[in-house]
Amino acid sequence: MFSNKDITQFANLETPFYYYDLALLQNTLNACADAAKVYNFHVHYAMKANFNQKVLERIKASGYGADCVSGNEVLKAIEVGFGKDKIVFAGVGKSDKEINDALDQDIFCFNVESIQELLVINELATKKGKKAKVAIRINPNVDAHTHHNITTGLDENKFGINSWDLNDCAATLKKCAELEFIGIHFHIGSQITNLDVYKNLCVRINEFAAWFEDRGFVIKVLNVGGGLGIDYHNPDQQIPDFAAYFKIFNDFLEVRPSQEVHFELGRALVGQSSSLISKVLYVKNGKKKNFIILDAGMTELMRPALYQAYHKIENISKAAADVAVKYDVVGPICESTDCFGKEVEMPETERGDLIAIRSTGAYGEVMASRYNLRENVNVAFSEELI
Ligand code: LLP
Repeated sequence: MFSNKDITQFANLETPFYYYDLALLQNTLNACADAAKVYNFHVHYAMKANFNQKVLERIKASGYGADCVSGNEVLKAIEVGFGKDKIVFAGVGKSDKEINDALDQDIFCFNVESIQELLVINELATKKGKKAKVAIRINPNVDAHTHHNITTGLDENKFGINSWDLNDCAATLKKCAELEFIGIHFHIGSQITNLDVYKNLCVRINEFAAWFEDRGFVIKVLNVGGGLGIDYHNPDQQIPDFAAYFKIFNDFLEVRPSQEVHFELGRALVGQSSSLISKVLYVKNGKKKNFIILDAGMTELMRPALYQAYHKIENISKAAADVAVKYDVVGPICESTDCFGKEVEMPETERGDLIAIRSTGAYGEVMASRYNLRENVNVAFSEELI
């Protein structure tokens, strides 16, 4: 929801731009931190969702750890000031350089995704005379019931170590002297809205934890990953139900007093706090279709083209009308998939109107590209518009 003042301010800015509502971001961060505190859960922010400097600073200042998936994310987290003892590093393809850099930084934990990776980390740690803390990322074969392109915890996915390789994994851990096993890690997918999925995950985690303990391993950390979804259809609903989410893990995960439960949330923390603001360049009224052509395209927001993702689209220059027109809302890029929404009902729209594409705080700005030699996308923050 935008105030008239916001909209007047937007008119003075160069479009397209990502608008960040930092007050909403802060409220979301506080809500999640408060809900996690009830159970003493640890939350790492999944940096891949948004690494805008101001956003990262807020998240760090709110006490979160960082979940990284590249060497540069690890270095960025440290530069922003996230505690090294709160940085976890996942990814199926960590390069030697990335592993060496993370070893130099003494991060909290590598979430290891293959047996070969265990051997490489052990070898590189030995050369440095260091010990590496590792958690085993297990692929639990639990269906996240989300879009197949953002599902990560099924047998056919490339992520994690499969159950049939765990014997080999345990033997490798026992023979690698420079690896310190601290626990097990899972992440089954993103934009999960059916919370029952997490009950199924907890059941599997309990089984895997027992399997490791039966073989003499001490599990200190149960890292359950992230994936909590947001309501793209109701962007003004804003703050996800963190209490309900954490309660599931409290109710269904078997946690010993000596164990810590860790989470890696991205989208749920940042998703609703930004909109992509764009201007209508042209309106084409065809026989079969009406098109609104925006100055933003898939280069600024890739999700609809990549995953057929829904984002609510609003004409914020016009009041809602009784009789709406149906438009296909498209961008200027030379690709037919450069479309933000089909048959979107909006008030009659004109060249120059401002269009807000909502819920773009997660996997929006960070996935922008310069395809077609487009400009880097602009950014504006609520607190700077006075
Ligand atoms: N942990 C790991 C190991 C991950 O791979 C991810 C996301 C997360 C945590 C955080 O997931 P979240 O809480 O944000 O769902 N670009 C896609 C989403 C890709 C998610 C990748 N991994 C999209 O725009 O929907």
